[in-house]
This record gives sequence, structure tokens and C-alpha cells, in this order.
Amino acid sequence: MNVKLTRQENESGDEALATQGFGRIADQRPPEFDPEADRDAACDFFTDNGFVVLKACLPSDDLATLNNFYDRTQRESPEVWGLGARRKPHHRNQGLIFSQPLLDYPELDRFTQHPGSYPLVEQILGGAERVRFSEFNFRETPENAGIGTMNFHHDAVSADRLIREPYMPCDWLCAIHYLSDVGPTTPAFCVVPGSNRFETLREVFDAQGDQYQETPIYGNAGTCVLYDTATFHTRLDGDGIASRRTWHQYYARGGWLRSTLPTTNKYVRAPSPVLTNWNLFPERLALHPDAKKRLFFSHWNTAQCEWVASGFDPQVRKSMPRGEQ
Ligand SMILES: [Fe+2]
Repeated sequence: MNVKLTRQENESGDEALATQGFGRIADQRPPEFDPEADRDAACDFFTDNGFVVLKACLPSDDLATLNNFYDRTQRESPEVWGLGARRKPHHRNQGLIFSQPLLDYPELDRFTQHPGSYPLVEQILGGAERVRFSEFNFRETPENAGIGTMNFHHDAVSADRLIREPYMPCDWLCAIHYLSDVGPTTPAFCVVPGSNRFETLREVFDAQGDQYQETPIYGNAGTCVLYDTATFHTRLDGDGIASRRTWHQYYARGGWLRSTLPTTNKYVRAPSPVLTNWNLFPERLALHPDAKKRLFFSHWNTAQCEWVASGFDPQVRKSMPRGEQ
């Protein structure tokens, strides 16, 4: 893929600058795959690049349902979005976040394994029995939010990602669904393809040479980006005026998996660790009557364990950092 320079390219080696990228923006958009017809090709692209873009993953009625959910809950429960008088620390500088909507809104349960993107999630993580739920939240950059600066970063990573063979399936996977149209004037997700087996962005830049590029992901509402959480990424701000809505869901890899390291061929990968020490699953999901659903919601952190032990006591939930919302 050809690249062009749209910001001054930073080749000074200054790591403080490097965290904001090297300014080498891809001049071609990455391919968009049909999540059903092109599923195998989409899986291969993800394996090669650490991300993949899926088109039209949400039918118009689902888009309307989710956007109406934003409108209704922002109106009726502004505090859960950080819109009340007391803005919470985890809402600052990130736009608006509704961190744990599943706790109190069972109507959202069907979105946790959405038929648009979920079959590919299963394929990427090695089969239906390997996928675990991690986290589900809604985010919005409101109109006139201004320009913040998010650095390129990766999310959760495991140390063995640098040396294990095979690399796939990855440890965690995030699905970002665009709930509004995303283009150059709006905030946009941006990735560095093939960056998931490096410790720093500088190492990616040095190793990839002329191939290094930063790839903005534009797309219509309903577009889904799946990315390996080890892939370097950021949020481009757009013009600071236009708004954007996104639904973020994280999945983890479950089960034990034979693998190899350079030093031993007897390596077994454990289930991926939990992503946070605060994220909670409600009783109807954690103790679901369907064993397959219980397995899907089985990656509990210690806060969840304590909440389960209490019999899902609302007071225990309320004492947790984002339990009150
Ligand atoms: Fe991130």
C-alpha cells in the first residue's frame, strides 16, 4: 500500500514524539470485507495485519435501536454517561463513556454476540468454545468536543506474544462498531498494520521501514473494526467539531492451548487474563441457565467473585468504582 506524508514525518528518534506516531498516513483505505461472504479472507487479513474492517455489520433497525438507547439514557440517566454535575475521573479527556450498560439493560444482551461480526470473532479466536466476553461499553465524542491528543498505544498484551509460535489466536480482540458515519472531519480509529508483535512504535517503524504506515479507518455507520489489542492504535480527533458514536466490545481467548517458545516445545497458553479489576457481569449472564452462555461469561475478576459470593448484593455493587454508574 502506498503512503504519503500529511504531517511532518518524525524520524528524529524522539520517543515522546514517536508515541503520537510518525506522521506517515496511508493514502489508500484498507479493504472492507463482507462479514459473511468474505469471512475467510477477512480472517486471513486479520492474521496478517492485526485488524480488519467489516462493512455493514449492523442493519438499520439495530443502528436505530442503539442510537435511540444513547438518546434515551443520556436524557433519563445523564449521570451514567458522566453528564451530571459530578464528572467522574474516568470520563475526563475521553468524551462520554457509559461503562457498564449491560448491568441494568437486558435488552442489550443480544448485542454481545451480534450475528454481523460475531461469527468472524469466533473464527479468529479459534472456534465458538474459545471465545470469552470481557467488556462492553458505549462511547461518544459530542459535537464541539475540541481536539484532545491520544497517543498511539496498545491495550492489554501478553509477554509471550513476542516469541510464541504460532502467534494466533491472539489474546484479546476488540470490536468497535461505528454508530455514526466516520470520516476525516470526525474522530476516527487509526491503526498501524502489523504492529502487534512489537514492544514500541519505534521498533515497528524501524522494522517495517518503507512499509510502515498509520491507517485511519473511515466508514459508514454500521462499519465494524476488529483489532488485536496488541496492535498499536489511536483516535484521530477530526476537526474538533463533528461528533462520533462508537460501541466497543472486548473478547478474550479461553481454554488452554498448546504452543511453542524458542526455548521449549512444551509451552501451554493459559486462558487470557481479565482486562480490568472492576468490570462486572450481571447475574442473568454470569449464571446463565445455558452452559454455553455461562462459559462465554466465565472470565470473572476478583470484584466479580466477591459480588457473586454476596449473592449479587446491590450494596456490594455500589461500593465498586463503576458499580453505581
Ligand atoms: Fe486503546
